[in-house]
Amino acid sequence: MDRIDEIILERIKRDTVSGEELSEILGISRSAVWKRIRKLEEYGYTIDRNRKGYRLKEGSDLLLPYEVRPYIKTNWLGKNYIFFEEIQSTNSFARENDYPDGTVVVAESQTAGRGRKGRKWISVPHRGIYASIILKRNINPYVLPVFSLLFPLAVRNVLQEVSGLEVKIKWPNDLYVNGKKIAGFLIETDLEGNTVQKIVAGFGININHNKEDLKGLNIGTSLKIITGQNFNRKEIIAKVLMEIEKNIDNFDKEKVIQQVNNSLLWKGKKIRIIDDNIKGILIGLNSTGGIVIQTKNGEKYIYSGDVSLIVDDL
Ligand code: BTN
Repeated sequence: MDRIDEIILERIKRDTVSGEELSEILGISRSAVWKRIRKLEEYGYTIDRNRKGYRLKEGSDLLLPYEVRPYIKTNWLGKNYIFFEEIQSTNSFARENDYPDGTVVVAESQTAGRGRKGRKWISVPHRGIYASIILKRNINPYVLPVFSLLFPLAVRNVLQEVSGLEVKIKWPNDLYVNGKKIAGFLIETDLEGNTVQKIVAGFGININHNKEDLKGLNIGTSLKIITGQNFNRKEIIAKVLMEIEKNIDNFDKEKVIQQVNNSLLWKGKKIRIIDDNIKGILIGLNSTGGIVIQTKNGEKYIYSGDVSLIVDDL
């Protein structure tokens, strides 16, 4: 979708406009106008056609820039908004291409959505939000583990606000509701020496997925599976971008740690660090964004890895 499509939509939203008029306004042929109308219909717009011309009847549910822009009230994040109906991975695209700070890449579906540790991210068309934020700022690499936490924190706040559900952060950066995963984050950094060149913060949120959409993933859930309701994805992505922008503009390491600590999943429970076989009680986050575990041999600080709950330790 480009500027010409947006002008067509603006015009046919207000009035019935003939193909001839549109072709004159836009300086393109009538058959080019017709092709664009067809493409807009493919994008989910309902357009009435009669002898007098075209008239927009209903908007699209897709996360198209034209649809999402009215919701986004940010100052810089998402001003450059790149949309794909389908792409391999928004994170890969954002890493491989050169776009300015604050660019947001959004896809309706991904054919090779990536998760942490080489896992896949199921990206069912039109159900969730699959997006990557590009940041080009000189962030101190030592602060990165805490900085990375502001993304799950922001999404948590928005999901909790729109759904009223209690959303927990599973360290390092998954979101859980009722013991099941509802969102995941893949934060990738390009460093040159000790200087951060680019941060790509990718997130996938399960919103209107049905159970069948997540089959095979028994730890996965969505807002719809839990509440039985459909949610407005445009509103959610706009709120998420606003919350992330606010968290970046006012970044305060101590505050982020405190807030994550307040909604940390399994705090006070017995957990295990997968791969390391370290077991103990999860105490909370430390000042550098790692977690503190009370083990039989004293406190241990963990800076990377995945956490699992020990349900029954016989
Ligand atoms: C995880 O849970 O392991 C992280 C999942 C991250 C998924 C998102 S979807 C948008 C972006 N593009 C990707 O390929 N991955 C992230």
